[in-house]
Amino acid sequence: MHGTTELPVPTPAEQQLSDALVSAIRAEIAAAGGAIPFSRYMEMCLYTPGLGYYSAGQRKFGAGGDFVTAPEISPLFGRCVARSCAAVLEATGGSLLEFGAGSGRLAADLLGELAVLDCLPDSYLILERSAELRQRQQHTLQRELPQLADRVSWLDTLPGPGYRGVVLANEVLDAMACERWRWNGERVEQYFVVPDGPGFAWQARTCAGSELATTIEGYARQYGLDRGYISEVNPAITPWLRSIAECLEAGLVLLIDYGYPRREYLHPQRANGTLQCHYRQRVHDDVFYCPGLQDITAHVDFTAVAEAATAADLQVAGYTTQAHFLLDCGLDRLLQSAGPADEVGYLQQAQQAKTLILPGEMGERFHCIGLTRGLDAEIPGFRMHDMRGRL
Ligand SMILES: C[S@@+](CC[C@H](N)C(=O)[O-])C[C@H]1O[C@@H](n2cnc3c(N)ncnc32)[C@H](O)[C@@H]1O
Repeated sequence: MHGTTELPVPTPAEQQLSDALVSAIRAEIAAAGGAIPFSRYMEMCLYTPGLGYYSAGQRKFGAGGDFVTAPEISPLFGRCVARSCAAVLEATGGSLLEFGAGSGRLAADLLGELAVLDCLPDSYLILERSAELRQRQQHTLQRELPQLADRVSWLDTLPGPGYRGVVLANEVLDAMACERWRWNGERVEQYFVVPDGPGFAWQARTCAGSELATTIEGYARQYGLDRGYISEVNPAITPWLRSIAECLEAGLVLLIDYGYPRREYLHPQRANGTLQCHYRQRVHDDVFYCPGLQDITAHVDFTAVAEAATAADLQVAGYTTQAHFLLDCGLDRLLQSAGPADEVGYLQQAQQAKTLILPGEMGERFHCIGLTRGLDAEIPGFRMHDMRGRL
């Protein structure tokens, strides 16, 4: 991780955007009586219309942006995911719905490969919170797949009941606003954000009797947390999955993200939590640095995802590392088919594949969880290495 003193300095125009967001957050704090929960601060930093990180015009993804996601690294990622989706679409028919489609890269790679596999969904639906990213996705798909553009549409809300097919979200859970908490040895404290000079500071408040306190007291007992242990929970997972489950008649919900099962999530090594900020390819943990100009994320507690799925009457059909998922979907075969005629292309793709699957890169930090309803088919991606026992 970097310290904020080593970070690149924003341009005057960027600084102005950030200053405007800081004013908006400070006004909300004043209206709330002096403090807002961290989840509200994170929500405003990422999603305030026109000013939040995902809502304003920053580059964000790819080498020239703040961070690189798997679809931005290589088309091999989308081509592998397509093989998993194809097996489901063959069994259920229906559509593919992608949450938080970023630059539209994954949508383009997936649809292109599903066309090659002759297994196109009836429609490719995208649910994206950011109006700016929605536009970017439209450009990407229009530019790369004009012949399939009429299959793609953008939704403002989930489809109604009776949805069949696949629901997909890559690196979306980590971008949802979370709560930060601290175990003081006897009680749970919830972190709030307060004004501090021209910026912001943390304020911990006991939250006895709240749902958050009950949940964390349970974790403290079960995992023997040390006094002063700090971490996060994502309160949005349960309602989000419930709303997806309400519309899913048959198919797969495929979630890919960085994170751990809870036992590993709450490991003593992570006693200061999992919050990370991404600014121009640098990773640091100062969430108050240049609000609106940097991404703020928390790792995903996959046990929480599995619990929310079970409560919503979905089956946890698979849980594995990204490396095993991609290899089971045939990453190595796809790679071999790139050579030897095009040696440079092959070497490039081999390098990309390494980033996707090596343990020190994305291979073991990222995990895939498959949640199903009314689906009998085997799901490529989850056959090679079943890690559900660790959830
Ligand atoms: C880290 S980016 C990942 C983008 C893309 N999936 C990729 O892999 O490159 C997070 C994305 O999730 C979107 N997002 C976050 N919460 C969302 C929600 N509840 N519904 C839809 N999109 C959401 C953001 O706007 C952004 O597009």
